[in-house]
Amino acid sequence: MRRAVTTFFVTGTDTGVGKTVLSAALCRAWGAAYWKPLQTGAQDGDDDTREVARLAGLRPDQVFAPARVYAGPFAPEWAATLEGTRVSVAEVLACRPAPAGPLIVEGAGGVLVPVNEQETMLDLMAAHGAPVIVAARSALGTINHTLLTVGALRDRGLQVHGVVLIGPPAPHNRAAIERHGAVPVLADLPLLGEVTPETVAQAAALFGPPELAHGH
Ligand SMILES: Nc1ncnc2c1ncn2[C@@H]1O[C@H](COP(=O)(O)OP(=O)(O)OP(=O)(O)O)[C@@H](O)[C@H]1O
Ligand SMILES: [Mg+2]
Repeated sequence: MRRAVTTFFVTGTDTGVGKTVLSAALCRAWGAAYWKPLQTGAQDGDDDTREVARLAGLRPDQVFAPARVYAGPFAPEWAATLEGTRVSVAEVLACRPAPAGPLIVEGAGGVLVPVNEQETMLDLMAAHGAPVIVAARSALGTINHTLLTVGALRDRGLQVHGVVLIGPPAPHNRAAIERHGAVPVLADLPLLGEVTPETVAQAAALFGPPELAHGH
């Protein structure tokens, strides 16, 4: 039987919205590998790859090194500039891994975060081409941020696989996003009391088995 290889790009409505915890839950649910193309904030210990590997219990062959790691806790354009460098979308995608199974790719910040003086994360996602999952807050303000993000993705021809709302469930916000955005909300991911491999494994159950995922 031919096995469908699924790849999804996880973006967010903002930085710190919960993309990494969501990515870990998706890796766990779908047996997926993980790639964070652009990691910033290394000087503060930010290392999403290590975090997802720990939380999802990834095998070494499911962990791929970022294309670039920057010390500064800034958008990639400025973090690279501070180090006297620049990176292009093409250079990032030249490092693209080719795992045997499903893959979760986590962006940096949100869709219009600059990669360099000309290109943004949206350009990276468009060149990459995988369907996108949008991590968003569940709280007030999320409708506007989420619909803007979904609109920007679709304007570039990207398929939006769905939205995940992170935080205390807010059914009115969920319904408004689904109706006005014509986009499915895949799950309400509650705030975990503690973010551990065990609680992430429980959260993974929200996403169903891998055969329910249809990516690229
Ligand atoms: N569902 C959750 N329950 C509890 N804490 C969470 C949850 N999601 C995220 N957090 C916490 O919120 C903080 C930010 O989350 P996370 O690192 O996943 O955000 P991010 O969107 O990946 O940020 P970045 O843009 O830096 O990659 C972390 O301390 C994380 O542990
Ligand atoms: Mg992250």
